[in-house]
Amino acid sequence: TKTQQHSAQQQHLSTVWSAVAAIQVDIPQDQYEFARGDNITLPCTFKSALSNPILAVVSWSIVGENVIITHYHPNGVTEIKPEYEGRVSVEANINGGTGKADLKPSSITTADNKKYECQVQNPKDNVGKDADTTTLTVLVAPSKPICKIEGTASYGQNVSLTCVSEEGSPPPTYKWNRYDVQNNSGAFPPKTTEKEGTLFLYNLTTETSGFYICTSANKIHSTSCNLTVTVLPPSMMNIGSTAGIIRGAVAALILLIVIIYCCCCRKKDNDKENYAMAPL
Ligand SMILES: *[C@@H]1O[C@H](CO)[C@@H](O)[C@H](O)[C@H]1NC(C)=O
Ligand SMILES: *[C@@H]1O[C@H](CO)[C@@H](O)[C@H](O)[C@H]1NC(C)=O
Ligand SMILES: *[C@@H]1O[C@H](CO)[C@@H](O)[C@H](O)[C@H]1NC(C)=O
Repeated sequence: TKTQQHSAQQQHLSTVWSAVAAIQVDIPQDQYEFARGDNITLPCTFKSALSNPILAVVSWSIVGENVIITHYHPNGVTEIKPEYEGRVSVEANINGGTGKADLKPSSITTADNKKYECQVQNPKDNVGKDADTTTLTVLVAPSKPICKIEGTASYGQNVSLTCVSEEGSPPPTYKWNRYDVQNNSGAFPPKTTEKEGTLFLYNLTTETSGFYICTSANKIHSTSCNLTVTVLPPSMMNIGSTAGIIRGAVAALILLIVIIYCCCCRKKDNDKENYAMAPL
């Protein structure tokens, strides 16, 4: 009957429950963010059905890489991967059915931007969830961006303005703004495009001139650079006068040759005359 089935089910359930305990390992957040250089704690808690586990192994590893630290209970032995020696420790509290197995890295760097896994193994307590993961993001303020003009800022030319921060975590995003020569905030010249920190300016005119500010920002800080772009008006007069100067120079040279030639000839003639007239 239905009641019999039901009670049989209940009995089955309770047998399973008492035969194997269920461990429950938990890292409260999926992600932790800390500033570079901090000494931090990545918390890991667990519930065990065993109030006094005779043995327990706590290990923290980098997901997809390897174990960095293993702590054995009750003898208290801790093994640390050589690269992490002196930089990480485990703060564990095993007894009492609920416990903790926190990882404590010190002086964190961007190299610690990884996904971590906490695992707690108790013999006789192997059903349930014996591990959990979290991602560590190490925050670094963007460094002052280095900004450059690529190309020649002269009339009719195309140039690009680049903006790069050497540091920043999460990676900074870049935004260009323009101020005209009177330092009023203004629109970009027509056809300007912006992509990943680079501003492309086409067919420069005198109106392109101004101050170009790039702001590099991530969630903790922002900083900017200031580039001055100066485009001189096209000077047809310059082109004219250049040609004029060349023409003038050529004319002067011809004139000079003529003068020298004439002088020499005249002088020779004079000399001949003088010679002829000279008394022997
Ligand atoms: C972090 O811990 C180290 C010792 O492990 C100490 O020298 C350093 O000053 C601590 N840094 C901070 C930001 O508390
Ligand atoms: C550049 O600008 C000038 C005047 O502003 C215009 O006459 C010329 O056609 C433009 N050239 C291109 C390639 O857009
Ligand atoms: C950019 O530099 C110019 C000249 O050095 C200055 O006049 C202007 O105020 C600066 N703009 C900003 C936003 O710093």
